[in-house]
Amino acid sequence: MSERMERYREMVENALPYALPQPEGCAKVLCEAMRYSLLAGGKRLRPCLTLAAAESVGADLTEALPYACAMEMVHTYSLIHDDLPAMDNDTLRRWRPTNHVVYGEAMAILAGDGLLSHAFAHINRCALEHPEHARAHLRAMKAVTDAAGAEGMVAGQSVDVYCEKHGCAEEDKKKLLDYIHRNKTAAMIRGALLAGAELGNPSDAVRAAFSEYGEKLGIAFQVADDILDACSTSESMGKTVGKDAQEGKLTYVSLYGVEESKKRLAELTEAAKHAIEPVDADGFFRDLAQQMLIRTH
Ligand code: IPE
Ligand code: IPE
Ligand code: MG
Ligand code: MG
Ligand code: MG
Repeated sequence: MSERMERYREMVENALPYALPQPEGCAKVLCEAMRYSLLAGGKRLRPCLTLAAAESVGADLTEALPYACAMEMVHTYSLIHDDLPAMDNDTLRRWRPTNHVVYGEAMAILAGDGLLSHAFAHINRCALEHPEHARAHLRAMKAVTDAAGAEGMVAGQSVDVYCEKHGCAEEDKKKLLDYIHRNKTAAMIRGALLAGAELGNPSDAVRAAFSEYGEKLGIAFQVADDILDACSTSESMGKTVGKDAQEGKLTYVSLYGVEESKKRLAELTEAAKHAIEPVDADGFFRDLAQQMLIRTH
């Protein structure tokens, strides 16, 4: 990991414990369940992307940090719900038993709900503290909302589980897989970059470069996840692997095979690098895409 990524990661790790309500009072268990998954580590890719994009457009990092934390809260909620018995039914996440294994299904659902709503409370508070940047905050908030919601991650997850439960026609598979990857994963990665970039009032060209880079990097990230699910181990991933094939999931690997998926991953990485070139003077985002290509967890 580059020194710059390491610096962002440290900022995020230091801020997250203070970004959530303390476990006290009647809802103590809810707060504990929220903290259990949020503070369990993880790559922190999305919040680091928010900070990187913000810094690269000259935005104030103290204003970007709540957005970074919010992206990680939304992402963590998506993982808690993704692991539920009604969805992927997994028992290991971030090297720990999944949230529902520890706290039970009902509390895991609520912990996800809590993280999602708290993410917006957190950035709202930040926006209210900076009325002089109100418009930039509104746009950054829109980036988070669009990425998370029914035209972003949630939409992608819905098609993912629908295809698993009901199957889909052979001729629709490519189109559906593209939709799933673009929405369940790329939307949040693109949104993380855009939230940071919006805080610097970017030009349309800069916004478009981050948007295209985020989409390509995000799809590449999920293609890599599909490959790792087939080829890696739970010990190195820190989460249940090998279930995609077992459950008949529509993934890059199930549709195209491992070798073709690796080729596609390399192409997407090149496309991401190309898209960001005009705004990537020091090659930071180019190198990051390259590191994601060879990731092992
Ligand atoms: C897992 O995301 C879900 C996918 C989109 C594949 P990450 O691989 O970023 O998980 P953490 O945050 O490091 O745990
Ligand atoms: C889920 O994709 C992406 C989310 C929105 C959480 P996966 O179901 O493949 O993610 P993992 O492999 O469980 O992390
Ligand atoms: Mg899933
Ligand atoms: Mg899953
Ligand atoms: Mg997976």
